[in-house]
Amino acid sequence: MFTSLDVLDEVGSTNTELVERVRAGDAGAGAVLVAEEQTAGRGRLERSWTAPPRSGLFFSMALEPVAPVERWGWLPLLTGVATATALARAAGLDTSLKWPNDLLADVDGSERKIGGILAERAGERAVVVGIGLNVSLRADELPAPGAGSLALAGAQGTDRDPLLRAVLRSLEEWYGRWNGADGDPGASGVQEAYAAGCATLGRSVRAELPGGGDVTGEAVAVDGDGRLVLATSAGMQRPIGAGDIVHLR
Ligand code: BTN
Repeated sequence: MFTSLDVLDEVGSTNTELVERVRAGDAGAGAVLVAEEQTAGRGRLERSWTAPPRSGLFFSMALEPVAPVERWGWLPLLTGVATATALARAAGLDTSLKWPNDLLADVDGSERKIGGILAERAGERAVVVGIGLNVSLRADELPAPGAGSLALAGAQGTDRDPLLRAVLRSLEEWYGRWNGADGDPGASGVQEAYAAGCATLGRSVRAELPGGGDVTGEAVAVDGDGRLVLATSAGMQRPIGAGDIVHLR
């Protein structure tokens, strides 16, 4: 599945760079771009992603799924499942997923964000999925109050090369399963695996809606479109899309 691996000392954002390369025809499906340092790393919802040089894994991959485009919303979610699987295998670390695609781990009894995923279209047929993992950051290097790192969460291995290999291998498995099932999250087992690893389910949640206002309820499911379903106090089932900001209460 992965056809090339390019490592840069420094880049603005591996996602931005790889999207540009795909659009220019300079990279195709299976290309992986890794950077030692990002000077303009980006997160979801126009946020920035910052991390000291060489303190983590910052990489992006270009994919051209055969699965129908309506199901591509599952790509960042399955990437979360694959990354969590790899961290358990390669670093003996238990992680969970905050919907839609933050990776959480326990640091001194509190749930901290140790990684995030950003998926972006790169033309008609391709999508670029970027992963950022805080690997060796010390407490005084954390970019935000809710952040953590693999090292602080007690990971058994924090060498970046074996971790990258483990994540890519796991992605090959999960992406292969999903793409092979035509992107069907149920038939591929991705939906079930996601629900099993999702820390948001069963919790009380407040979602800020893009048009203003908010909705609160208990997170009860992740539906076939990858939306988080809230059961509201009015007895309604309300699906929440990935553009909404979700706060655990
Ligand atoms: C998020 O938590 O909102 C997503 C963070 C994604 C960060 C990764 S680091 C590699 C890739 N390049 C970027 O600019 N962003 C992603």
